[in-house]
Amino acid sequence: MIVIIDFGSQFNQLIARRVRECRVYCQIEPPSISAAEIRALAPEGIILSGGPSSIYEAGSPRVDAGIFELGIPVLGICYGMQFMIDTLGGRVKKAAKREYGFASLSVTAPSALFNDITGETVTWMSHGDSIEAVPEGFEITASTENTAVAAVANPEKKFYGVQFHPEVEHTVKGRKVIQNFLFDVCACKRSWTMKSFARDAIAQIRESVGDKKVILGLSGGVDSSVTALLIHQAIGANLTCIFVDNGLLRKNEADQLKEKLKRHLSINIRFVNAASQFIDALSGVTDPERKRRIIGKIFMDVFEAEAMKIKDADFLGQGTLYPDIIESRSAFGGPTAVIKSHHNVGGLPEKMKLKLVEPLKYLFKDEVRKLGKTLGLDEDLVWRQPFPGPGLAIRVIGEVTQKRLEVLREVDAVLQEEIRAAGYYRKLWQSFAVLLPIKSVGIMGDGRTYENIVAIRAVTSKDAMTADWAKLPHKLLGKISNRIINEVRGVNRVVYDISSKPPSTIEWE
Ligand code: XMP
Repeated sequence: MIVIIDFGSQFNQLIARRVRECRVYCQIEPPSISAAEIRALAPEGIILSGGPSSIYEAGSPRVDAGIFELGIPVLGICYGMQFMIDTLGGRVKKAAKREYGFASLSVTAPSALFNDITGETVTWMSHGDSIEAVPEGFEITASTENTAVAAVANPEKKFYGVQFHPEVEHTVKGRKVIQNFLFDVCACKRSWTMKSFARDAIAQIRESVGDKKVILGLSGGVDSSVTALLIHQAIGANLTCIFVDNGLLRKNEADQLKEKLKRHLSINIRFVNAASQFIDALSGVTDPERKRRIIGKIFMDVFEAEAMKIKDADFLGQGTLYPDIIESRSAFGGPTAVIKSHHNVGGLPEKMKLKLVEPLKYLFKDEVRKLGKTLGLDEDLVWRQPFPGPGLAIRVIGEVTQKRLEVLREVDAVLQEEIRAAGYYRKLWQSFAVLLPIKSVGIMGDGRTYENIVAIRAVTSKDAMTADWAKLPHKLLGKISNRIINEVRGVNRVVYDISSKPPSTIEWE
């Protein structure tokens, strides 16, 4: 395995992805981790990530210099390389010219990192500092027009550094550089598969839970379903799942999910219908954050009341994913702005004093889907698009009433049908409809109409942190619009949302 030290670069998750694509397991750790803690993890190699700081600035992030005494190979990327050079006695200075974007790299000396890479190759750079002098034992192995020291190597200690970003697609031989580090320098083996992950995760759950009981909130989404399967394979009947129907699901979804979950997960599931509680509490509420708070609170109350009926439960299972963990832990300890309160992270009923079991916390979404497939989860559940905990309440803009929910459900059902029929369901991160709180004038037959507007939102994304609006074919959009206006009473206009995230978000509220 590889430990990646997070110095705050926006590309950290990409480094992790690249390593895992090579079937080598890796973990991202904050700079506060000690050398002893790293030694305990017994990694084959350490990657120091890039970051936005300058190494000579006060307060720039540093990791325990003891990591260079562990006898473990190190690859420093951008800021990571500058940190290594600075710590080991070299000199880093503000560059005469900032380098941002493409740069042609010349490999000037042989290095294990550049095995099978010779001459000139296109790389991607983003730095304002440069290395002026390298420490003893290091040699310069590559340069660019603006950067004399674009790569360094200390083959004896197996320390390597690159000023460019090998993890981004723009660096043409980037994958090769990472592979060279993993296999030629660190002697890693390509042994990390979802099967091996599942085996380890099941063993770990067994060890930490023992013969105690686990409760899990099941939403029917891929994350909680896979979590349930893993925990169930580990402890069998000692797992109880709770599914809360909040009345804010899509058309027929509660019943379909119920049936699917029962059929495909031979797991102990308690279904709780709390729809009226949620809808009543939302009456008259239009503020998005208030909606979220109300739904979060009722969910907790209902969940807790049901969980209390399960005797001797010590653990709460959660389908937390890796991006949630990385996002909630800023490298510099600074609070990240709360854009929307997501009630599924950190919303554990405190007085229940349950310990957490989060077997997916080191996985990315696409890896969770692979794991689901490996564990034999029903294809439909594996490929379900994400659906927010507050459900349709944050897609009915303005007041949430049964009537407006009904309109949205019908619209959304048409949309889903068309998206699936056109083969787009799996290609999109999400596709859904939003009911707007304004009406517009239209004409139907010979008469004037004054009805609702719905917006269609379809996005592509890897992890929901950024997203692009989907370039759906005009013909498909036309068909969706026609069908909605013709088939759903109360809607006379359909618009398509062409905003990306950022600056917009995926959901409207
Ligand atoms: P935004 O709208 O913030 O959404 O771009 C990012 C992703 O998160 C989903 N989402 C939620 N999921 N509880 C959830 O479980 C929530 O409160 C929540 N709010 C947004 C959203 O659907 C998208 O996939």
